[in-house]
Amino acid sequence: MKDCNLIIRPLVAVRDSRLLWDLLGPIYNRRIQGAIAGLYEHVAREMALHRHRQILDVGSGGGYIAVEIAQKSPSSQVTGIDYSPMQVRAARQYAAKNDVTNCFFHRGNAMKIPCADRTFDAVVSIGSIKHWPDPARGLREIYRVLKPEGHFIISETDKEVSDDNLRDFITRFRVWFVPDMLLLWGLRHVIFGRSFSETQLAGAVSAAGFKEVTCTRVRQCPYVVIQANK
Ligand SMILES: C[S@@+](CC[C@H](N)C(=O)[O-])C[C@H]1O[C@@H](n2cnc3c(N)ncnc32)[C@H](O)[C@@H]1O
Repeated sequence: MKDCNLIIRPLVAVRDSRLLWDLLGPIYNRRIQGAIAGLYEHVAREMALHRHRQILDVGSGGGYIAVEIAQKSPSSQVTGIDYSPMQVRAARQYAAKNDVTNCFFHRGNAMKIPCADRTFDAVVSIGSIKHWPDPARGLREIYRVLKPEGHFIISETDKEVSDDNLRDFITRFRVWFVPDMLLLWGLRHVIFGRSFSETQLAGAVSAAGFKEVTCTRVRQCPYVVIQANK
């Protein structure tokens, strides 16, 4: 296991570097959109039910969830922040392509969210927390920028995903130039294996001060989904 860690640890460091998102963000964005479309749809539907006015997406990547929320909640204003300038650019292009005018993207780090206390009615974050150098600090930042009673949905790759679910996920996430065996190993050990279990993510959200913490699952999506309120 120690030998394996010598390989996995540097790969996790690469996984969490901003440069990776600046360089490979476009490839990831295209692959993930189809692979977790059900999750985006679920989160956007939940947000629409609550008719929030101001919504923040932390680690907004290619902008898919922010744009879907903006489309399903036309009276809301959605702000996406991402620390990668290339991802912010990709998200702006995606919003423009979809003629969405109630969604904006800015550079911003989850470790120090560039917004005043109690700004947002709701915050979402999908697949980003595993990359943060200090997840507890990021969750406290989200708590800070939420209004009292604010709504929070966070989702992350499930550390306890079964081999069958991971294989099924690969059929949707496949990248043509990476052999399936290598992709399976990378997802198992570097992406999912170094992520959060449902218990860990729910515990981290509670520890940041959130209440009414509940866990949900989305069919065919090997992600943990946690909802909570401030
Ligand atoms: C796996 S992608 C998920 C993107 C998007 N939420 C989605 O579901 O497609 C992770 C994103 O988090 C961003 N990210 C990682 N660490 C961050 C940080 N500390 N602050 C802000 N964004 C961060 C990356 O640049 C990347 O765009």
